[in-house]
Amino acid sequence: MNAQTADTPVKAELRDGVLVVTIDNPPVNALGVDVRRGLSAAIERADDDSSVQAVLIVGAGRNFIGGADIREFGKLPMPPALPDVCNRIEACAKPVVAAIHGAALGGGLEVALAAHYRLAVAGAKLGLPEVTLGLLPGAGGTQRAPRLIGAAAALDLILSGRHIGAEEARQLGLVDRVGASGDALADGIAHVHELLAARAPVRRTRDAAGLADRRASRAAIEAAREQTAKKSRGLFSPLKIVDAVQAALELPFDDGLRHERQLFLQCIDSPQRAGLVHAFFAEREVLKAPETRTAKPRAIASVGVIGGGTMGAGIAVAALDAGLPVTMIERDDASLARGRAHVEKVYDAQIVKGRMTPEAKAAVMNRWTGSTSYDAIAHVDVAIEAVFEDLDVKKAVFAELDRVCKPGAVLATNTSYLDIDAIAASVARPADVIGLHFFSPANLMKLLEVVVPAKVSADVVATAFDFAKKLRKVPVRAGVCDGFIGNRVLAVYRTAADHMMEDGASPYQIDRAVREFGFPMGPFQVIDLAGGDIGWAARKRRAATRDPAARYVQIADRLCERGWFGQKTGRGFYLYADGARSGTPDPEVEAIVEAERERAGVAPREFTDDEIIRRYMAAMINEGANVVHEGIALRPLDVDVAFLYGYGFPRHRGGPMKYADSVGLAKVLADIREFAKEDPRFWRPSPLLVDLVERGADFASLNHAA
Ligand code: 3HC
Ligand code: NAI
Repeated sequence: MNAQTADTPVKAELRDGVLVVTIDNPPVNALGVDVRRGLSAAIERADDDSSVQAVLIVGAGRNFIGGADIREFGKLPMPPALPDVCNRIEACAKPVVAAIHGAALGGGLEVALAAHYRLAVAGAKLGLPEVTLGLLPGAGGTQRAPRLIGAAAALDLILSGRHIGAEEARQLGLVDRVGASGDALADGIAHVHELLAARAPVRRTRDAAGLADRRASRAAIEAAREQTAKKSRGLFSPLKIVDAVQAALELPFDDGLRHERQLFLQCIDSPQRAGLVHAFFAEREVLKAPETRTAKPRAIASVGVIGGGTMGAGIAVAALDAGLPVTMIERDDASLARGRAHVEKVYDAQIVKGRMTPEAKAAVMNRWTGSTSYDAIAHVDVAIEAVFEDLDVKKAVFAELDRVCKPGAVLATNTSYLDIDAIAASVARPADVIGLHFFSPANLMKLLEVVVPAKVSADVVATAFDFAKKLRKVPVRAGVCDGFIGNRVLAVYRTAADHMMEDGASPYQIDRAVREFGFPMGPFQVIDLAGGDIGWAARKRRAATRDPAARYVQIADRLCERGWFGQKTGRGFYLYADGARSGTPDPEVEAIVEAERERAGVAPREFTDDEIIRRYMAAMINEGANVVHEGIALRPLDVDVAFLYGYGFPRHRGGPMKYADSVGLAKVLADIREFAKEDPRFWRPSPLLVDLVERGADFASLNHAA
């Protein structure tokens, strides 16, 4: 094939003895089959054509190469394979130089490592992030990187998946120099001519001596193995990475490559890879809400926050960290002082940890102002209400916002459950009202549910997505209902957990099973952390409207009646001796559970961990399906992203809906029907789940359709 045909994503042009090979495969120059073919053909040409003295590889657009084409994983491999392309580059008889700008990630960096010389310009991002996709560098990265920069540095790069800049790459020896002009093509050409003038030889990374100190290399590998075994709970690829680097030390280069390939293919076949790749695309897909395509966002240059409690303060910090000025409104001077103190506390903690200087804090706090008068936020572009969870209080706040805010200001509420349509209907400008549902702690948690009431204008929705990006949040579009996406689904699987507790599983067994599944905490630990009183208040509020025939487990109420609200009171489901952050099982709680079983007339039975997970997940999946069915979530993937970023769902499982697909929807539905025999009121199969099973379809089919 001729590498110069117009439709190839790899252009090769001879300039003054240098074959300039440009990869032009938008958006990120991923190494799809045509790029691999084009690169191989260009190297063939360089070797065959006597007028070519050297080769320069560059990327067109914003990046060098963003990596292997992730969309090809799991599909039939198309030759040439990337490792072969890299070997072909390395084998070239003429000097090959890679000039890197933007991303040189994964396979992209592996291409560069196969070149004989490398430079990067300022702004470049180099890394081997395969681990984040459940993989290991599979095109020689685990063999070449340690030879080039040593085992310790290579392991750090590959196991962390972190991106490094040009200067750090130079210091590590990953690149030879940082380009002087900042233009990769110009710097690259200059470098090639220097090399040619100096008659620099072909210099192959496979022959580099980074592993020459065998003892130090072995020690680095063993240390990494020990650390990884401790840290990467349940993850498949990290230990394979250590194995692959060990092969680099112990085997000849070509055997090491073969070993790497085998390990890579094992990772490709693992369900974790499927889950992590799903997460990668899903977190990008959620950004494409319909309104972001049709409407132009309004400019947000200043923020008002009403309420300086847990959430208001966290939201203020998130906005301050994004460089925005924030005005906080509180009820009275004392509450305002507390609100300011909440904000300062976050920065003081950073100072204590050495992550911030007092001067930097002062500079940030200069952008914070507070007031007890709404007039102080007349100028803001967005006002975010985070006052008590009470519709009348919120309506009163919105009446004030309506009165003072300038035309065009976005009026947002952080309510967890309340009817945002009702809030919008209470003001004269419902088109400007939207839900921005942050998660606690709001400065740290990535999820932002953008709750879209009926009357909101499209540009306000687009503004919310734009604002989320500024705050470095992951926005998920949600419709109005009790709890939106996340909290609505949460309420259902927590209830399933309560049922299991009353039926015979201890809260400690449930928490352990859920942790072993991959969540950082079990449901009862979460309640203890958030404070049992919050849920108790909500249960009391809803008592009047609760279906009297529905099963209601009272165990949590018994704890709250004793003032056991969790960590903050020293005990909840667990005991927290002397302010400890992790609790220990409490025999008194077990006795209360036992007494409640008796009171409810339940004969306790044993649960296996597997049974616990089947029920917990079935409840989550079924309500997730309802949320999609009702249009509260646009697609199953929106539910997945909400759970990955707001509820600690294990990323390697991709989210609840992806997990359901991997189990098989027919199996999930069969479980629900089996559980329904005991409690048909609680276990009602979602119409969407039934429909998909009848059609032999899965949730993924709905992601593609949207
Ligand atoms: N393959 C296929 N598509 C990719 C891709 C890849 N490697 N990287 C990015 N894309 C797609 C995205 O899905 C997105 O598509 P969309 O517009 O349809 O949603 C588009 O390219 C733009 O991506 P971003 O929105 O992420 O663009 P940014 O400019 O913000 O970031 C980037 C660019 C830093 C390259 C970022 O996309 C990224 O981190 N990509 C993944 C890098 C990676 O993990 N590479 C390793 C791949 S595995 C590998 O190489 C295996 C090898 O060892 C054999
Ligand atoms: P909080 O009780 O910590 O803070 C509320 C603050 O609002 C108090 O500082 C109070 O003085 C102030 N306030 C009350 N009425 C006011 C008024 N009329 N004008 C100005 N300030 C007023 O409550 P929290 O936890 O911060 O919750 C706030 C909102 O955020 C609620 O709607 C809640 O449902 C929601 N939310 C809470 C989450 C959480 O985990 N705590 C998570 C996500 C949303």
